Formats: sequence, structure tokens, C-alpha cells
Amino acid sequence: MCGIVGYVGDNKSLEVLLGGLKRLEYRGYDSAGVAIIDPSGHIDSRKKSGKLQMLVDELEQHPIGNGATGIGHTRWATHGGPTDRNAHPQLGDNGKLALIHNGIIENFYDLKQDLLAKGETFTSDTDSEVAAILVGHAYQETGNLTEAMRVVVDKLHGAFTLLVMHEDEPGVVVGARRNSPLVIGLGDGENFLGSDVAAFVEFTRRAVAIGQDQIVTLRTDSVEVTDFFGNPVETEEFEIAWDAAAAEKGGWSSFMAKEISEEPEAVAKTLLGRVVDHKVRLPELEPLGDDVLANIDRIVIIACGTAAYAGMLGKYAIEKWSRIPVDVELSHEFRYRDPILTERTLVVSISQSGETMDTLMAVKYATAAGARVLSVCNTQGATIPRESHAVIYTHAGPEVAVASTKAFVAQVTALYLLGLHLGEVRGTLTEEQIAEYSDELVAIPEKIEEVLVASQSIGQLAHWMTDTQSVLFLGRNVGFPVALEGALKLKELAYIHAEGFAAGELKHGPIALIEPGQVVFVVVPSPRDPDSLHPKVVSNIQEIRARGARVIAIAEKGDAAVLPFADEVIPIPLAGSLFEPLLAVVPLHIFGMELAAAKGLDVDQPRNLAKSVTVE
Ligand code: F6R
Repeated sequence: MCGIVGYVGDNKSLEVLLGGLKRLEYRGYDSAGVAIIDPSGHIDSRKKSGKLQMLVDELEQHPIGNGATGIGHTRWATHGGPTDRNAHPQLGDNGKLALIHNGIIENFYDLKQDLLAKGETFTSDTDSEVAAILVGHAYQETGNLTEAMRVVVDKLHGAFTLLVMHEDEPGVVVGARRNSPLVIGLGDGENFLGSDVAAFVEFTRRAVAIGQDQIVTLRTDSVEVTDFFGNPVETEEFEIAWDAAAAEKGGWSSFMAKEISEEPEAVAKTLLGRVVDHKVRLPELEPLGDDVLANIDRIVIIACGTAAYAGMLGKYAIEKWSRIPVDVELSHEFRYRDPILTERTLVVSISQSGETMDTLMAVKYATAAGARVLSVCNTQGATIPRESHAVIYTHAGPEVAVASTKAFVAQVTALYLLGLHLGEVRGTLTEEQIAEYSDELVAIPEKIEEVLVASQSIGQLAHWMTDTQSVLFLGRNVGFPVALEGALKLKELAYIHAEGFAAGELKHGPIALIEPGQVVFVVVPSPRDPDSLHPKVVSNIQEIRARGARVIAIAEKGDAAVLPFADEVIPIPLAGSLFEPLLAVVPLHIFGMELAAAKGLDVDQPRNLAKSVTVE
């Protein structure tokens, strides 16, 4: 939540800041602002409520002098509504200092009361302005911006990334981070800071992640990182694995359309180098030790939202293949209920962004409790992998649309690889089985391509449904998380009431919702599997059809049994039961997107949301 950019270099701050904010806008889009030390040596800032374009328009009407030092912010409001005055940057030291903030300063109220008592006045309702004023005071005392930041972070509780610059120290941006993301971009005669690498990937692919409780002082020719006590810390440079073009729309109508089209590639890249000669290779698990994997007695998967649905699918696969019991928990529930963890528990966190605060806190809790933590993550340099013992990166590429699509299939793929690896380590799968299942995974990208082609008619279906008030989604077994995912996409993208149910649960209550015309998507399992729940799902379809439901079935190509009972059938290619979700979810992603687009809504930036939820 909230995107942050900082720049020190030559006189192109404005281009860098606006370009970075454009690529970070998915992190929050209810206001935006920039501050630059202009050629006359003064801080000039512009900020505007609404999407970034409002700021761009404002800058056209009231231009700002370009300069060599600048900071920019795109906001997801926490303290104080999304107004111009609450937008960042916030100023301090009589307008000589500008500060931007991502996170929540939990003790801001007490700090503000102290400042008010000392006669300070405030121009916003934000917790961030408190930090700006405090850094201003500390600067008066220390005469050094890095020192001033050090004094202030000591007083703040909560989660924050802060960037600050001061007129009296042109050519310097100081950043601090605690529980919120911040990454350095290393340039030639210029350096960058960003909430994630998307902020500066247009200019450099050399990056350095900043650790917890660290302060960075950025100059054109140097980058100094210390801890909160001023001790130098070692940093590690990494190369960003994708280029700026990957974070652009590239001719698609929306980022989401592009990202759904990339679902085959997201799976293929996550498999790359990890299935060799029909065997699974996951060297990144080595830091855990094979001994650990052989000895764990329980797995707890923690994640939120779509990532948690990927986790539910992981449970089916891991339990089946390795016979290790798996619990799936929402990170925010897990963390606060005193969960039982031992050194034989493997906690698997799943996060596209690697920054979700709920999951980060759960990871920290788990490591502190002695569990081993493995993360599945899509973002290099993010905080969650740094806090974990090992990480499997999904290689879905940057996901810009706020609602997750390609990251989901990549997460499921990574969890399935983990399940196969555990099956090998634990001796619960034979070589032949591992070969068969890993071959199934390798075949998935091509099958998703087929689904993308077969799903083109969904656009039309969505256009007919713009007035629909409620849509239900049903699935059994691995079809259940797919139903939940389909419902979530519809809620968040098209603002339609949607629920996903386990089809077996229907007659225990939800069937009361069925009335003539109620649209129900049903994920139908393959009829070929001898253990298939196909007959049961077909019975469920008949039950709802009898009550007037309009059924849209996602079913295996050639499934004749479903045809008489469905109003529409979306065919998916043949696949083993556990692998069907990777195909069945794709039409549901498309449906959510198409219905939102047909309603004229912003598919990439749905209301009230932000991509990276960095507050609890
Ligand atoms: C839904 C969606 C969210 C995220 C959730 C976790 O489309 O995108 O539910 O899946 O906020 O985010 P990450 O994976 O970044 O931890």
C-alpha cells in the first residue's frame, strides 16, 4: 500500500518520479504527489487527490521546476481521507523538508498531542505529517538529515517506510524502513529508491534490498546503509529478472488482460529448470535441509485472499502426494490465535508481493516460535522471502493489475512442485508417479493456451450479465478453491455479490439462495477419474436446475453427461484431477475481467483496493 519513489541524479527528477509512480500506482491510487528540490534550491511540491493522472494534470497547469533530487508518492489512505491536503509529501521545518510515508505510525496520536502542546500546527489529518514535523525538529538539533531520521525512527511505533529530503542538504534523500518495503536502484551517477523495483526498472536493473530497521542515505555517487543505531550494514546486490517492458501494457486493453494472457507463461517459467528428466529439482529448498523435510510432521500454509486459495489447492496435492497433514490458514487469523508450532512444523507462506503485512507478521511469528518457514513469492527483494528460511520464487513476472491472476497459477504450480519433492523425500511417491505428475505440470501451459482460445465467448456472456446482482460458484474437492477464486474475482472487479461454495454444502443452507434466473458457475470434475466426484457434481447441478438456476458449467471437453443440464458449457482440456484447477480457473478470471469491463469499471484498479496490503 502506497508507492514510494526517491531519486538523486541529474535534472530529470520529475520524469523519474512520474514514471516510477505510474508503475507503482497499483499499490494505491487515491492521491499522489511529488516534491523536488528545484534549481533555485527550494522544495517545490504538488499533490492531488484521485488517480495519478490528476497529479499529471495539476503539473501541467502549475508546472514545477525540475531538479536533481526528488521524492514521489502514490497513496492508499489510512489516516485521513483521500484529499489534497492528506496527500503526500508532507512538509516540515517550515516547508524546507519534504517527507513521504508508507505504513502506519501506531503511536502518532500521542506524538501529535505532544507536538500540539508545544504549539505546532498541522495541515493534514495524517500520521505521516507527525513524522515530517519530528524530522524537522531533529534536523534543527543535529544539522544532519541521516542523524535526524535516526532520532525520529526511535520514537515511532508501527510499520513505516519514510523518505525525506531537506533544502539544506540538496542531493540527498534519506530513507528508513521498518516492516514496509524499500529497495535501492543503483545507477550510473544517479541512484533510486522505490517500494519495489518497478519504480526504477526503466533506468537500472541493479538493485539492493534494504533490511528491517535500516536507514539508507542516497547520493548521486554513493549509497550508505546503516542500522537504526548508525552501524554500517552489508548489503547484497541483485539483478532484476525482468525489464521495463514487462511492466507495460504492451497493446492490451488492461494489465489484467495482459496478465491473464500470460498465465501459460507464468506456469512455464515457474517450472523452468525445476522439472528435469521427469524429476523435480528444487535446490532452493537446501537451506531447509532434506533432514528437515524428512522429519516434519505437519505443514501450515499461511496466505491471504487469492494466495490462500492457491494454498488450499496446495493442501490437496501435498497431502495426497506426501501424506503430511496440511492446514491452510489466513495469515491474520493464524497470527493472533496462539497457534501450535513446533520445530517439526513447516510453515509455507504464499505471497505474490512478498510484502503483505498480515503474512509478514505471521512469518515472523512462526520463525520466532521455532518453525521452519518456506515462502512462495513472486517478487525479488521483497520482505517476506528475506524473513524466511527458504524461498521458491514463482516467475510469473510483474503483476500490475490489482487483482491477482497469473500469480495464482504460478503459486499453485510452485506448491505442486513442493508436493512432488516432498513425495520423493518421504518416499510416498514412486519414480513413475513423480514422472507422470511432473509431466502433467509441464503440459499445463499449452492446455491453458487452449482454454484462452476456448474462453473467447465469455466476453459475450459477460456483456449479457451487466445487470446481474448475484452470482454463485460451486465446486467440490479441488474445484472448491476454484469456486472461491471465481467469486472473489467477481466481487473485487465487478462489485457484484458473489459467493463460492463447496457443492456438497449446498443443501446445508446455501441452496435457499437459488431462485429462478440465479446464475451459478459450476466447476465440474473430470468423468474419467475412477474416484471422480463427477456424478455427485452433476447431481448438484440437477438440484439447482430444478429450482430455476441458470447453470454455466466449466467441464472437461467431451463431457456429455453435463450437457443436458447446463445452460452454457465452457470446455477445458483433459487433465488429471489435481491439475484441472489450473485450467478451470482461467475462464473465471476472464469472466470477472470481462464483466467489470462491460460495466465500464476500471479493471486494473478496483475501488478501495491496493495491490500490496502493507498494513494489518
Ligand atoms: C485478489 C488478490 C488478493 C491477494 C492478497 C494477497 O485478487 O489479489 O486477495 O491475493 O491480498 O496478496 P499477496 O499475494 O501479495 O500476499
